Amino acid sequence: MSRAKVLTIDNMNPTVKKVEYAVRGPIVQRAVELERELSEGMKKPFAEVIKANIGDAHAMGQQPITFFRQVLALCSYPELLSDSTFPEDAKSRACRILQSCGGFSMGSYSASQGIDSVRQDVAQYIQRRDGGVPCDPDNIYLTTGASDGIVTMLKLLVCGEGTSRAGVMISIPQYPLYSAALAELGAVQINYYLNEEACWSLDIPELQRAVNEARRYCNPRALCIINPGNPTGQVQSRQCIEDVIRFAAKERLFLMADEVYQDNVYADGCQFHSFKKVLFEMGPEYSETVELASFHSTSKCYMGECGFRGGYMEIINMDDDVKAQLTKLVSVRLCPPVPGQALMDLVVNPPQPGEPSYNNFIKERTATLSALAEKAKLTEQVLNTVEGISCNPVQGAMYSFPRITIPEKAVQEAAEKGQAPDMFYCMKMLEETGICLVPGSGFGQKDGTYHFRMTILPPKDKLQILLNNVKDELLLLLLFLLLLLLLPLHHTGKYQPIRTVPLPRRSPGRRRTSHTRWWRRSVFSFANTKPNWNGSQEEDKEKLSPRWSQSKKKKTRRFPVFPVLVSSQRM
Ligand SMILES: Cc1ncc(COP(=O)(O)O)c(C=O)c1O
Repeated sequence: MSRAKVLTIDNMNPTVKKVEYAVRGPIVQRAVELERELSEGMKKPFAEVIKANIGDAHAMGQQPITFFRQVLALCSYPELLSDSTFPEDAKSRACRILQSCGGFSMGSYSASQGIDSVRQDVAQYIQRRDGGVPCDPDNIYLTTGASDGIVTMLKLLVCGEGTSRAGVMISIPQYPLYSAALAELGAVQINYYLNEEACWSLDIPELQRAVNEARRYCNPRALCIINPGNPTGQVQSRQCIEDVIRFAAKERLFLMADEVYQDNVYADGCQFHSFKKVLFEMGPEYSETVELASFHSTSKCYMGECGFRGGYMEIINMDDDVKAQLTKLVSVRLCPPVPGQALMDLVVNPPQPGEPSYNNFIKERTATLSALAEKAKLTEQVLNTVEGISCNPVQGAMYSFPRITIPEKAVQEAAEKGQAPDMFYCMKMLEETGICLVPGSGFGQKDGTYHFRMTILPPKDKLQILLNNVKDELLLLLLFLLLLLLLPLHHTGKYQPIRTVPLPRRSPGRRRTSHTRWWRRSVFSFANTKPNWNGSQEEDKEKLSPRWSQSKKKKTRRFPVFPVLVSSQRM
């Protein structure tokens, strides 16, 4: 017997339907399908899918810190405490954590705000990091990754209706957790644009513009900053942070500082400054008034332990009654995962000089951070050698967000498919090369500009393949544009092969892929939409493009550019 569903797409929570999360969107779903197809033996122009879409370090081959895993193993299975292969400092650390757990077991719930001893360790870490600025463990909340803390804080902030509805300022480009959470909570998203021309800097006049405009239709209540930036990879200067704090104070905004990449700083002359430290250095006028929540996580930096879902937030100057509500809110969900809390404890309190695990810990941490620094530089350098692409320095975090030129014809074709041009670009890149990127539109970008986000996490050899493929695609695109310019000269209605146009050479030893097919096909299909070609555009596509062709045997005249690009296969 069939019965109409109680919960349907028409009567479900409309705010959930508005949620979008590009980092795991359609591109990634297709990447997973492609992986399955490859494993089933299906032929593809590539041997493997390279996922550069998500900041998931271990999935990209980064190795965990041995000491962290030893302590976690000991906590999970205390019988190992008698195993002589585990170092003594790992054992004593595991015992300390277990003593804070109910029943000496990581399987028990903890206090909702997090295990006391871990919060104390977090407070000491923050105090050390910030050159002695005091930190009260009572202001620390352990969280299920930083995401949980960010969403919890947004929940506290959202209220009002109509033009009094709470607005939250977020950077564009942004990490899509923010837009997704705001959509779900029905809050108003207020966009402020980072300045791409000045290395994605955050300009106060732009913040002012955004807040002034927003006051006409909502009640701006909070300002979110990601530093170092995702997806843009910039590291904010101390001066900039100070200016932002002044702005927040003037406009009466609650500050949310997402600092999950605080150890991921690579560029010379750049340094991480925490909002908390700068706030306290600005004196009591600010340090005693400006409300701030800052977030950290076990998922990034040199740890990359995303799966443990560890994190913390520190709140400053929060009203006592609101703090009580916050504590109540987190208690409804009982507690963050205890293994994640244990891991957070190790991150903020790693092996110390003189302890048996210290040297190896430093070696492993340095190796991971140096490799990331090297890959950040390599990414910027390679991408900037390509015409049609410009890439700001990857000063920090784990991503580059290069700007790409997409020709008008491709923009039109994407529009016909109902896709954003950069989604179209990334989908083609995936199908032809197996490289999984995220389109810039998933993060927000200035109208008329196109980007993609790629992580710098793949191992260096894979990153090199990835960059070469991206480079080749762009070179072919450039060639395509050149040919479009030449078309009016050569298009006399007769077949005129142009065989002398130089084509990019593959570097010696590089694996031959057929990823160039995309632009060959694109050239083929876009060229045939030229209005002075006989017949309608759709007819021409049908006749001339293998993609659209229903009856490939039809005799047709070939467009002049095609033979040129076919010849690229032989070079
Ligand atoms: C800027 C930023 N904030 C927060 C998060 C969420 O991290 P977590 O795994 O700690 O929830 C991420 C994850 O990529 C991020 O890039």
